[in-house]
Amino acid sequence: MVAKNWCYFITYALSLLVGAQTALRTRALQTAVTWDKYSLSIHNERVFVFSGEFHYYRLPSPDLWKDVLEKMKAAGFNAASVYFSWGYHSPKSGEYDFTGIRDVQKLFDIANEVGIYIISRAGPYINAEVDSGGFPGWLTTTKDLTRVYSPEYTAAWTEWLSAIDPYIAKNQITNKGPVILNQVGKFIFNMCPSYMQALEDKFRADGVIVPLTFNDAWTNSSFGHGVGAVDIYGFDSYPQGFDCANPNIWPGSAQTYWRGYHESFNPTEPLYIPEFQGGAFDPWGGVGYEKCATLINYQFERVFYKNNYAQGVTMLNLYMTYGGTNWGNIGYPGVYTSYDYAGGISESRQLPYKYGELKLQGHFTQTVKPFSTTFWFNGSTADNSDIRVDTLQDVYTGTQFYIVRHQNSSSLVHDTFHLNVNSTDGTFTIPQQASTAITLDGRDSKIIVTGYDFGSHHLVYSTNEIFTHAQIGKRNVALLYAFEGEDGETALKVNRSAKPAVKSFGNNPVTTCVNGTTLRLNYKHQGITPVVITGAAEPDLLLYLTGYDDAIKFWAPKVDDKQTVLVYGPYLVRGASLKGTTLALRGDTNATTTIEIVAPETVKTVTWNGEKISVQTTLYGTLVGKLAGPAKITVPNLLKAKWKFNWASPETDPNFDDSNWIVANHSTTNSITQPETLPVLYADDYGYHTGSIWFRGKFNGPSAITGLELLGQGGNGSGYLAWLNGEYLGGTPIPATSSSANATYTFSKGQVKSGENTISLLLLTSGHDEDWNVDDQFKSARGFGKALLVGGNNTAIKWKVQGNLGGEDIVDKVRGPYNEGGLYGERAGWHLPGFSDSKWQSVSLPYNFKQPGVAWFRTTFNLNIPSGHDVPLAFRFTDDKSKEYRAIFYVNGWQFGKYANALGPQTVFPVPEGIIKHNGQNTVAIGVISFNANSSELANFNIEILGAYCGGIKVNDVDSPNYNKAVRRV
Ligand code: GAL
Repeated sequence: MVAKNWCYFITYALSLLVGAQTALRTRALQTAVTWDKYSLSIHNERVFVFSGEFHYYRLPSPDLWKDVLEKMKAAGFNAASVYFSWGYHSPKSGEYDFTGIRDVQKLFDIANEVGIYIISRAGPYINAEVDSGGFPGWLTTTKDLTRVYSPEYTAAWTEWLSAIDPYIAKNQITNKGPVILNQVGKFIFNMCPSYMQALEDKFRADGVIVPLTFNDAWTNSSFGHGVGAVDIYGFDSYPQGFDCANPNIWPGSAQTYWRGYHESFNPTEPLYIPEFQGGAFDPWGGVGYEKCATLINYQFERVFYKNNYAQGVTMLNLYMTYGGTNWGNIGYPGVYTSYDYAGGISESRQLPYKYGELKLQGHFTQTVKPFSTTFWFNGSTADNSDIRVDTLQDVYTGTQFYIVRHQNSSSLVHDTFHLNVNSTDGTFTIPQQASTAITLDGRDSKIIVTGYDFGSHHLVYSTNEIFTHAQIGKRNVALLYAFEGEDGETALKVNRSAKPAVKSFGNNPVTTCVNGTTLRLNYKHQGITPVVITGAAEPDLLLYLTGYDDAIKFWAPKVDDKQTVLVYGPYLVRGASLKGTTLALRGDTNATTTIEIVAPETVKTVTWNGEKISVQTTLYGTLVGKLAGPAKITVPNLLKAKWKFNWASPETDPNFDDSNWIVANHSTTNSITQPETLPVLYADDYGYHTGSIWFRGKFNGPSAITGLELLGQGGNGSGYLAWLNGEYLGGTPIPATSSSANATYTFSKGQVKSGENTISLLLLTSGHDEDWNVDDQFKSARGFGKALLVGGNNTAIKWKVQGNLGGEDIVDKVRGPYNEGGLYGERAGWHLPGFSDSKWQSVSLPYNFKQPGVAWFRTTFNLNIPSGHDVPLAFRFTDDKSKEYRAIFYVNGWQFGKYANALGPQTVFPVPEGIIKHNGQNTVAIGVISFNANSSELANFNIEILGAYCGGIKVNDVDSPNYNKAVRRV
């Protein structure tokens, strides 16, 4: 292939120059973000990068970006990794939009306000389970191979980077923005080094000066050296894969060769995993995200993320942390509407149990600074050979981290053991107390810290893990946890001149013993045991010893750059500020909640979301009070609503006026799928890149024609329907495992008329493939590779094609290129608020329309959700699974679900506030596409409350333009 040869020729030429280039490219460009072999530093301060992946385009309600980023920040994430999706911003070559839901500046501003860094990843290719892996629809028809050198492709990606780079450049940390790192490209196989180099040069030319990073698909040694090398190399890893069917079986095991790989491949850079498994996506016909949440649960987080740290990782990004929604047609064919991903924050922005573990690790990595500068050493052991111990030691302080797990990372065995430590405080075996041990109950891993200075105190060791610690007012405060019922032993250095006194509160006994300069506490983890220690060091220490389920109810919001408070109880604490003697907390409750606060002694008043709460002081000097839960929320029952109904396959009528449709007469195509019959019936070739597509063919019949052979290529889980002269020939659902399907429709005698005949074909599409292997897979056909009249003259058919209204000249610029497809109802604007359906038939649900093809249902309803509440809402379809129909549904003109009744698995479709108006009138429009008469129905469709929280953030309604007759003329 010409382009490939070019690629290697240019790569060779560049390689002669590369020494000079590398020197230019690295640190010299700026000093805000630097690195060494241990970790990243920002403004000269070591940073453990604990990052979560977030895609703004999967949450088209921009105010809610703040909600997600606040929830990440509250878990201890200090960065969000963000893919920017080219196709989302570009309906047409030369046209780019960064307004409204595409307002990336708003995203940067929110990140800055929340105080979370951004790792920008603008592709151009992103994969990400989005249509064409992020390439715009218009790129599908280009000739040259993409992701190598070619003038055609270079012109295309240069457009995109010229559009997005100014935003990235402007929002770099060097300009007081949040961007600290910029990823270039995404490797799979075959990515051309000179192309990679050209991308880097473009970012640099456009003023992107932060370190450039790379995400190798695995430890494949790409772009660490030579042409196209980046500043900080990283690789991704999804050890459990993406099949959630047997979620209790862990197919992957924790890797132990990464440290060696890093030391030999890029030893002067931190060990960076730009994508580590935060969940999994699920395909059409899949098992659903609940199972993925079991597969990638808190135990997985404990075992695998801690193994990453044991390998030396100090820069970690979890993909996905918030997955969101493949609304409209943004998904690729391998995913359905929900992209929940079973991540740390659910699609409806709720906090699953596994969020708690992220919070524990997030705070640990941010609080315990020596964790960022460690080397690994051999030699520590446990008295149980099933236990693997990786020991890391801080090069500066000697603090050690014993990361323990089972040798077999998926072991389910309940093991207890003692650990031999050789620390700055001496050599001993812990725990020391007779009849106690460290526990690993099946799939678990712990980070046991020794020789650690925190505030004025010195931790000799603890068999438990550290959540966080802080100097709060006059006291030092620390929180240690283990699972309920597990033994705990913590040893602190005591000041020789003082006599330590230990006072514990609560019901759990804590025994103490002082041995020379060491104070040892023994206890069991159960609930919360506050312990006040005086005399070990100045000032006093408040130690919380907690069980796991209580630990994850703690929050540690920062009140400013230096001070933190500790809050126990609420569902979420978003932030805190301290003004004089008033501590103002912001957060959410899901029920009436007891709150406990560790605040500076000077605090006299506490407010929660601006309202003063009454607090009492506990015996150990914390404040307790009560918070109200959410009000009772109700939503209307849509089964009782007035529904309007209309038929919507007029294209099947031989007399339908298609004079303004595009003539499909191409005899060649740049698609990688070559057609079996001509003309080319691929929607992309005629400017239609998304959603449903209609084809109409006219031919004059001799009666010798006996049937129609079709190869429909709509993508996995799609399908097609065919008519002759208005009579239904049949429908062919395409299974989840295939992107195309053949069908032969045999005509009955006399069905073909001797005059003009009309074939009408409706193709549903499920998006374009990705481009995993740099082989233009995203240019696979979406259309009919074969449309053959059996027994007739095929070339005599005159074809026309119709897709979304306007094609690449989209008419709805607010909702953008992926929102609508080419169903009649979509072209005519039936999905939009303000469209008058007064002449439509009134029906009630369930309603069976008894004919295959397309029909639409509409209704409106009001919501009146009380202010100060976050109430995630969803719509649910319920029906007999034997019925073969698809439905797409729109809320206020936004397509928020593709429902496949027989295929599944998704039945509940969350819709974010802002898209659905929580106060005011909402319009729902549903297009049902039925494959047979028996399946032609909309049965039970209703709105549902997924959760109710008092708190939340203020969410403005998203601009949702109404029906406009002048625009919607079809
Ligand atoms: C990665 C890729 C991501 C996403 C992920 C699977 O290799 O970089 O974009 O596709 O796989 O969810």
